[in-house]
Amino acid sequence: MSAPRGQFSSNIGFLMAAAGSAVGLGNIWGFPTKAAGNGGAAFVVVYLILAFLLAYPALMAELTIGRHARRNMVQALRGIATGPISRFVGTVAGLGGILVASLILSFYAIVAGWMVAYLVEPFASLVGASHITDWLTGDSPARNLTFTAIFSGFTMLIIASGVEKGIERWSTVLMPALIILLLLLIAYVLTQDGAMKGLEVYLMPDFSQFTPELMISAMGQAFFSLSLGVGTMLIYGSYLSQQESLPRLGAMVTLIDVGIAFTAGLLILPAMYVAQEAGTQIFSASGELIAGPGLILQVLPALFDSMGTAGMFVAIAFFALMVIASLTSSISMLEVPVAFSIENLGMKRKPATLLMGLIIFALSNMIIFNVYNSDDPLTMIARVSTEYGQPLLGVVLCVFAGWIWRRDQLLTELQKGHEDIERTLFWKIWPWYVRIVCPLLILAAFAVSQGLVG
Ligand code: TRP
Repeated sequence: MSAPRGQFSSNIGFLMAAAGSAVGLGNIWGFPTKAAGNGGAAFVVVYLILAFLLAYPALMAELTIGRHARRNMVQALRGIATGPISRFVGTVAGLGGILVASLILSFYAIVAGWMVAYLVEPFASLVGASHITDWLTGDSPARNLTFTAIFSGFTMLIIASGVEKGIERWSTVLMPALIILLLLLIAYVLTQDGAMKGLEVYLMPDFSQFTPELMISAMGQAFFSLSLGVGTMLIYGSYLSQQESLPRLGAMVTLIDVGIAFTAGLLILPAMYVAQEAGTQIFSASGELIAGPGLILQVLPALFDSMGTAGMFVAIAFFALMVIASLTSSISMLEVPVAFSIENLGMKRKPATLLMGLIIFALSNMIIFNVYNSDDPLTMIARVSTEYGQPLLGVVLCVFAGWIWRRDQLLTELQKGHEDIERTLFWKIWPWYVRIVCPLLILAAFAVSQGLVG
């Protein structure tokens, strides 16, 4: 017999962990800048619609399959399969999920490493060690290697401690800290000159920018932000007790995720325009708002510098916020291969964490030292995994929940913790929705993004 499976001790614990997975760099960095570059509130509106009409149903597919199977994605999909073909597809998709989760973590850990370096920087500048501050903020392989290693090490330490003592405990402390830091930063930035201009850009819709690309971009953002497709939410669902109502918890996770993304926009956009007021360039040569690493690694630090002593505290608070958001997300990615190693390869949690953590660290190094020989290896891996991997695996998960899984079993699972589910709107809509609408929407968006149609 294998060791007893981990479980979240309470629904709050699950909520913090799942929301912690969902809320990450995608919310605080990705969402606000995509909104700024895609017509402000027009993007926000499309995103809200897609988050509830597409991402939430897909999240429900993962949570329900996971809690039913009480296993990782490979085992879960094989368990639902009804014949050799669906079993094969389930195995391939499950392994694909592990691969994509690992690839996502391999670039995520590098970006999170930058956040750690920038968090350390104010302390170095306080003691006047300017050669160290230069090293910390310079984009050298040695710097990246060091801080990716530190961040990955933290991620591994938490995962090695297990579901309740690692994932749940850390998420329950870090998530409230994240919300407090975010609100404090907003309160401060909104008092600065220029902030209102940023708010306007963020909140005034420009519907002329409403294009298919905007839809695709919002869909990709919603999938990434809710950690979908790779089995992260499936495995978190598998650690959830049967006394909880899945539709309700899933809705709360979606609301928290969307709420924090929206709130982060109230920080980032005003901060950019405050930086402009203070003399920092916030538009690139082609006239677009700077959105990539330049925003977080140049525009905002320049802003903090211009704020004097207060700026040092603001910088520390901001990068602490980024590190916290990254950590509660990265642990959820590492848990995917680790749960597989425990359940399918019979490993113990600690060696499984060490092995998988080191493999993913090796993948990060392939990016840092550009084994791929690409102009921008980080962006390349990010695009392959999030623009292809996540949506395609998302389709497979919806097909398993909607077509392959027996309807009576699905109902039985949802009834746990929600006895009258059969009489709810959720049960009237969701089963056919996840069967037809979700896969078609994802495939259609995919076709448009690939230039196959439109
Ligand atoms: N959702 C997180 C963010 O917004 C990232 C994340 C965590 C993720 N786990 C994932 C993305 C699994 C894709 C798959 O930053």
